[in-house]
Amino acid sequence: MERLVIVSNRVASSLRADEGGLATAIRAALHRREAMWFGWSGAVTEGDPGPVRTEVEGALTRLLLDVRREDFDGYYLGFSNRVLWPLFHYRVNLAEYDRDAWAAYRRVNDLFAERLAAVLSPDDTVWIHDYHLIPLGAALRRLGVGNRLGFFLHIPFPGPDVLTTLPVHEALVRALFSYDLVGFQTDRDLQAFADYVVREADGLISADGAAHAFGQQVQAAYFPISVDTRAVAAHAVRTAGTGVAARLRNSLSGRKLIIGVDRLDYTKGLVRRLAAIDRLLETRPQHRRAMVMLQIASPSREDVPEYQQIRAELDSWAGRINGRFGEPDMIPVRYLNRRFRQDTLFGFYRASRIGMVTPLRDGMNLVAKEFVASQDTEDPGVLILSRFAGAARELETALIVNPFDVDQVADALDRALAMPLEERRERHAAMMAQLEVHDVHAWWTSFLRALEAFGASSVAARPIVSEYAAWH
Ligand code: G6P
Repeated sequence: MERLVIVSNRVASSLRADEGGLATAIRAALHRREAMWFGWSGAVTEGDPGPVRTEVEGALTRLLLDVRREDFDGYYLGFSNRVLWPLFHYRVNLAEYDRDAWAAYRRVNDLFAERLAAVLSPDDTVWIHDYHLIPLGAALRRLGVGNRLGFFLHIPFPGPDVLTTLPVHEALVRALFSYDLVGFQTDRDLQAFADYVVREADGLISADGAAHAFGQQVQAAYFPISVDTRAVAAHAVRTAGTGVAARLRNSLSGRKLIIGVDRLDYTKGLVRRLAAIDRLLETRPQHRRAMVMLQIASPSREDVPEYQQIRAELDSWAGRINGRFGEPDMIPVRYLNRRFRQDTLFGFYRASRIGMVTPLRDGMNLVAKEFVASQDTEDPGVLILSRFAGAARELETALIVNPFDVDQVADALDRALAMPLEERRERHAAMMAQLEVHDVHAWWTSFLRALEAFGASSVAARPIVSEYAAWH
């Protein structure tokens, strides 16, 4: 049987509860499927990295690789998270490009390629994930790997005006042409890629959805990532009535719960979100005793200075709102910097009247989808969703907001707190109908079907798969 080999920097472990969207989705996709998952072990070494470590868990084999500290700093903290992450989320002014970090990024990709090539069989289908590993396909090809290679970008693909501020933009985009299939989250990301190909690389997009440039071609399409809708709903029912989720519900004393759950990241719009809560309480005093906000912000990438800064800002905002609007018997914002198990979060979502997902830019945002899937269909909560999250392309009946407009978000909160049951049900049912069809299984099967339709990259003429270009 052909094997599926997943490659990503972060490999979900059974020990980490909150890993971000990538690991969560891949874990769900691999559920009960025979697969190998290759990636960083989570450890750095002072000397040369040792051999690849193997861990077997049911049908899943994890292959884990340590990285030398020196390389890791440039690759992960430097190029991936201080250059690509801010830039691809349109935060050009936060991107700190330097040549050493770019060199370390390529070295680690070369190391991954070398170790991965050693364990591949010719029939393996290889699916590489996210911005840490864009050049991995090209590095594998240089080693003579002829396997089917797919790449999926979990974060936004920026428009060419933003991308070209990166000094090595061409090398990066050129590397995408070593894959057989490149997948993006939304039609917008695909369009941004096509714009780059046409405007910057003097290339073209043919009718079958293939991009042609640099004397090469690659099939490109979008595949919105999703959640295991049924499993999330079942977990939510189970956890809502027990343990910490039940204690949360009991603690509300009839107040409506507004919830936000995010990695503590400057792309998530957390400062503006708290500012909107502040604005709501200031301008609509009737809500002061009628609501409580629970914001869970799990610490992330703590060695990157911009993350330390956003953490300090949020501490001060939470303190400010509670100082201003708190009462001896209640505080409006419960702000927690810790991780919770996923199924516990689903119970929290079910106890909430409002879910706030207001990133300034986000590839997809699975919290939005999990929030919807966790609701009680008879008495569902309302999703307030940023137009700049990929999820807004699908969850059209959420209250869509511009997170840069604090007054607009405060208005949406006001509206959601007062929304009649019938309207809540209608909006929720439409979103649920979408998620029932377009769940995580639809995501990975459609990507792999498209990838497997091509054959190995050595085959010059690839079949037309335009249906995948407009996946949903
Ligand atoms: C986002 C990225 C993932 C990443 C996750 C957590 O979802 O797209 O690639 O794994 O954040 O971030 P971390 O740096 O902890 O892996």
